Amino acid sequence: MRTFHNILVTGGAGFIGSNFIRYVFTKTSFAGRMVNFDKLTYAGNPHSLADIASAYGERYHFVRGDIAESTQVAAALRDHEVDAIIHFAAESHVDRSIHGPGDFIRTNILGTFTLLQAARELWGDRKDVLFHHVSTDEVYGSLGDTGKFLETTAYDPRSPYSASKASSDHLVQAWHHTYGLPITMSNCSNNYGPYHFPEKLIPLMINNLLTGKTLPVYGDGKNVRDWLYVEDHANAIWAIVTKGSIGETYNVGGENEWQNIQLLEVLIETVARLAGRNLADLRNLITYVKDRPGHDRRYAINCHKLKTELGWAPSVTFEQGIEKTVQWYLDNQAWVAQVTSGDYRKWVDANYARR
Ligand code: NAD
Ligand code: TYD
Repeated sequence: MRTFHNILVTGGAGFIGSNFIRYVFTKTSFAGRMVNFDKLTYAGNPHSLADIASAYGERYHFVRGDIAESTQVAAALRDHEVDAIIHFAAESHVDRSIHGPGDFIRTNILGTFTLLQAARELWGDRKDVLFHHVSTDEVYGSLGDTGKFLETTAYDPRSPYSASKASSDHLVQAWHHTYGLPITMSNCSNNYGPYHFPEKLIPLMINNLLTGKTLPVYGDGKNVRDWLYVEDHANAIWAIVTKGSIGETYNVGGENEWQNIQLLEVLIETVARLAGRNLADLRNLITYVKDRPGHDRRYAINCHKLKTELGWAPSVTFEQGIEKTVQWYLDNQAWVAQVTSGDYRKWVDANYARR
């Protein structure tokens, strides 16, 4: 099992990165330091790790920085004697990538290139180091009614988001094959859980149900996604980082496919039960809207390799995960109000000014 002293997590103030940092500190035997390197875009919230910052003191350190800025990246890697990079930072929302692809090209492609170069420069030929790249199943394109994505499935990205992630995946592989950089990669299906900015399907719908807003269903509502509880993505990444074979890609997924409209019914039923709302009133909020351009029909992951080679299995069922998630949003309406307020963004900029 590989061990590290100082891990730099990029994008650790975002949804999956913050859950990953909390998971490693609270549920693994990791004894070193974690440096959270994050630009704090709209999706990055320093408050999401306030509990970890106060509980783990010097072992958790936050740096506000941009992965596409080479001097900022090089300084963080050098100053903290980093021996592993776990790379989450990205622009991650498909609808935003359709509206404004430029940030996706800059952060996801140029940012990954910048990190890879900085890692090479710092580490040289060292083999006791690791660059883990967190990616998505969306790089494989769209499936018909049958079949699942394997690690060997040909890349066929279709949105500006998935094309930028596919490009970053290729760069990571190239730096391994060409320069010998020790890498691992994971391509995961859709995540859900706490601390998810309310713009993606599950947190948006929960938030709209709790606040009585309409529920916008794209197209016919029959697009299929394979959902995984975020902590199970975190423990998969930890398994790959500590035990995965160098140079290998592992697919991660919930084996848990839902049509959007069926998933919405589960959310409506769970919110009605946990928040004491009227089922019929909640169902009335469903509104079919214009489809997303280029909307991928179906994603589904085959994660046999991760299960058999690394012994990974999800820790919660979908029913448990959805219940925990809805309860978390019920208990944390203040977090949602905070991260969506303009005042909060001003506070972030004032309190986390770049040095
Ligand atoms: P997110 O949008 O919630 O968080 C992204 C984080 O990256 C934010 O904290 C943001 O401030 C930071 N960031 C953005 N640009 C940056 C830059 N230039 N420099 C430094 N930090 C920057 O994203 P997420 O949902 O947590 O996704 C994390 C990673 O996992 C991404 O690489 C994404 O492609 C991948 N992924 C996500 C899902 C999913 O369902 N959300 C599924 C599979 C893979
Ligand atoms: P999303 O959470 O954006 O993830 P993905 O990266 O897989 O597109 O969307 C999940 C599915 O839900 C996708 O088929 C688009 C659909 N969707 C809606 O129908 N309404 C919405 O408001 C959103 C955000 C997504």
